[in-house]
Amino acid sequence: CGIVGMVNGHPVAVDLAAALGRLEYRGYDSAGVALAGPGLPVHRILGRATDLVPMLEAAQPRGRAGIGHTRWATHGRPDLRNAHPHTHGGVAVVHNGIIENHDALRRQLRDQGHHFASDTDSEVIPHLMAEAISQGLEPIEALLVTCRALEGAYAIAAVTEAEPDRILVARMGSPLVVARGEGMAAIASDPAALAGMAREYAPLAEGEIAELTGDGITFHPVRIQERRRQQRPVAQDRRAPRREWQTVADPMAAREDGRRFAHHTRREIAEQPEALAATDAALKGLALPPDVVACDRFTVIACGSSLFAGATAREAIERAAGVTVDLEIASEFRDRAAPPRGIAILISQSGETADTIAAMARFRAAGLSTIGMVNVRESVIGRTAELVWPISAGQEIGVAATKSFTAQLLALMRFGIALGEARGTGDAAFRTRLARALDDLPRICTEAEAMEPIARILAERIAGEEEALFIGRGWGAALAQEGALKLKELSYIRAEGYPSGELKHGPIAVIREGSPVIVCTPGDAGQAKVLANASAVAARGAHLVALTDVGGAEAAAATAAETITMPGDALVAPFAQAVFLQLLAYHTAVVLGHDVDRPRNLAKSVTVE
Ligand code: G6P
Repeated sequence: CGIVGMVNGHPVAVDLAAALGRLEYRGYDSAGVALAGPGLPVHRILGRATDLVPMLEAAQPRGRAGIGHTRWATHGRPDLRNAHPHTHGGVAVVHNGIIENHDALRRQLRDQGHHFASDTDSEVIPHLMAEAISQGLEPIEALLVTCRALEGAYAIAAVTEAEPDRILVARMGSPLVVARGEGMAAIASDPAALAGMAREYAPLAEGEIAELTGDGITFHPVRIQERRRQQRPVAQDRRAPRREWQTVADPMAAREDGRRFAHHTRREIAEQPEALAATDAALKGLALPPDVVACDRFTVIACGSSLFAGATAREAIERAAGVTVDLEIASEFRDRAAPPRGIAILISQSGETADTIAAMARFRAAGLSTIGMVNVRESVIGRTAELVWPISAGQEIGVAATKSFTAQLLALMRFGIALGEARGTGDAAFRTRLARALDDLPRICTEAEAMEPIARILAERIAGEEEALFIGRGWGAALAQEGALKLKELSYIRAEGYPSGELKHGPIAVIREGSPVIVCTPGDAGQAKVLANASAVAARGAHLVALTDVGGAEAAAATAAETITMPGDALVAPFAQAVFLQLLAYHTAVVLGHDVDRPRNLAKSVTVE
């Protein structure tokens, strides 16, 4: 879900809805805004925030301070009753996150005579606030008291009937920034929502509460977490965080190279050279602590594309460092009975994925170390892991992972190299070759992106298919799964990624005359086996498209109907092929007219089990 809030002395409703539209990647089941002041008007729709704009242009609500929400249904079906904002007793609230003790709070409030209008966990918040206000507290104090009753993760924004020019906000565990500009102040789950509206932004600190008016932002001196400590007088509080204000940038503005893209996803595919260079810079000088160096068994735990990044890099880490890398799907691992062993590597672009966090908790509960590989340092995993081995891909808005995937691959391979060097185990010659090859990645990815016309032609054909099969061996099997996932996510075409050696044990049964099969094959020692598997499907009528590199082109061309030769050698092939597979999925979705940045039913970060 995503939230925004804005106060500027003028009617804010339409601007709020426009800002919400930029947060649709966080969910788009329903959307709504509430405006401070008399009547506390609320406008909600089932569907997209962008559709709120014409509705509000017609209704012209006059409120000068307002809050908004775009929802990805978690608690409660995606219907209007459950759409935010939720109101009670002159308080309207939007919430992003999960209130874990909402059942208990509801019971308690019901005993006090409260009735609820929705099935959401969030609705307890306005009820608690209204209850505190009715007991004589100021709205900001009511928010503090309410937050102290909540367990879970949240970013909250509230407006009241009594204060037409004020927004109250709190943050604990979910992302939220405060922003300011000429005569205005705002909040958002993501600063990109405020492009063209606010000038600069800073993250609200963990546990912090603030008030926004047209004159600026006032940070409350007391933190939510201090519930058990004595509240100190304001004057003695010297822990006001040093706040770094950053310029609010428009992600869709023209890039330095002058290119402008129609979709975030396409722009993010183009940003891979920068994302990889920045990730390398972020990793430079990072040392591995002694317990990591001593460990010879790692468990990669993740979901979605992050899991496939772990799977794709596993071979390189094992070879470079001479260690064992196990792979676990976070949503499965969290409920396993087997005791965790070794050190966990949690891969998560957002650092907020609930299943990955739960899996991480199992390692921590067993007293074992965790390594977080996140794109967002401030995230739950970023803040909790004993070691952060970061990626620095920059913000990723398209729901389907692109640049974060290749940045994760790079960070994992660099981890393998650093580990092998520190341990003195693994294949030293391989480490040297791999390290050198990785240095060249920005160029390789630029050249891979230039293969776009070929991806587009293939996409036009795939768009007419009902299904597609992606196969490979070793890292190629994992990349095949990522290629299939990308195609499914963006084009809704049924696609499967499979280890080619397993085809004969079942999947080959689905092959018919003309079935499209994409083979991820590198020009190295492993190629012969993949091609042998591939020719078995070709013999049954499949149309084989081989993705390979210069070293593998000749052999691939002897087997496949089409061979696409990517730049670089076998060492960087996972990266070059990943870029191609992203472009293929992207163009297939474009041909089919799908909403590329916001595929149906999906959300960028999944903060529910
Ligand atoms: C969601 C996104 C995927 C992503 C996965 C894991 O399902 O749609 O693109 O790969 O979550 O997200 P994480 O932030 O943990 O990498």
